[in-house]
Amino acid sequence: MIDIGTGDGFFVSECARQNPRKFYIGIDANTQPLEKISEKIHRKPSKGGLPNVLFLQAAVEDLPPELDGVADEVHVHFPWGSLLGAVATGNEGVLRNLRRICSADALLEILIGFDPVRDVSELKRLEIPSLSLDYIDSFLAPRYVNAGFAIIERGVLPQSEWVKVQTSWARRLKGRAGRSLTYIIGRATDKSHSKASAPI
Ligand SMILES: C[S@@+](CC[C@H](N)C(=O)[O-])C[C@H]1O[C@@H](n2cnc3c(N)ncnc32)[C@H](O)[C@@H]1O
Repeated sequence: MIDIGTGDGFFVSECARQNPRKFYIGIDANTQPLEKISEKIHRKPSKGGLPNVLFLQAAVEDLPPELDGVADEVHVHFPWGSLLGAVATGNEGVLRNLRRICSADALLEILIGFDPVRDVSELKRLEIPSLSLDYIDSFLAPRYVNAGFAIIERGVLPQSEWVKVQTSWARRLKGRAGRSLTYIIGRATDKSHSKASAPI
């Protein structure tokens, strides 16, 4: 499982503790919040070590080729900045990067928490017009399809369901009035539609 924009790595380390037979990779462009946890995972398992975890510094725009095809699940939780802009506007290069690290039939889970009033200037800066279900269906879905993902589910999680989301930002934002959590679940398809379709 690969978690992009992993932040402090809490989601990855909790999942890894609960599923010792699965391998987890947390990726973030910023390593500062990962300093403690990326030292801790190398301890003995009895002292909190997690041999089934790896943390990597990388931007989603530039994922290492060694990750190609390795993930059965890719998660993007509470993205901000360029990561948010990319998944919420269907940036072709970034979606193709996410597809490239997926195995056949892999699942992609994106959770976006936003407040249409407080985040208005950031949404404007990132050129995100809306995150309505209609926008997802009519604008984003075809872009995801082009990059090799079929959107199989999307919706808005009620506040009561936030407790099930095991990330630091879910805990931080939980209960804040006005903030909604939009989810998009995609499945990797075996075809992505390349722009360059020149005959051989
Ligand atoms: C709000 S935090 C969410 C952290 C974690 N997923 C959580 O739910 O607690 C957003 C994270 O996305 C990362 N990020 C933003 N743009 C990125 C990019 N282009 N590539 C990789 N990570 C990025 C930031 O460094 C930050 O750690």
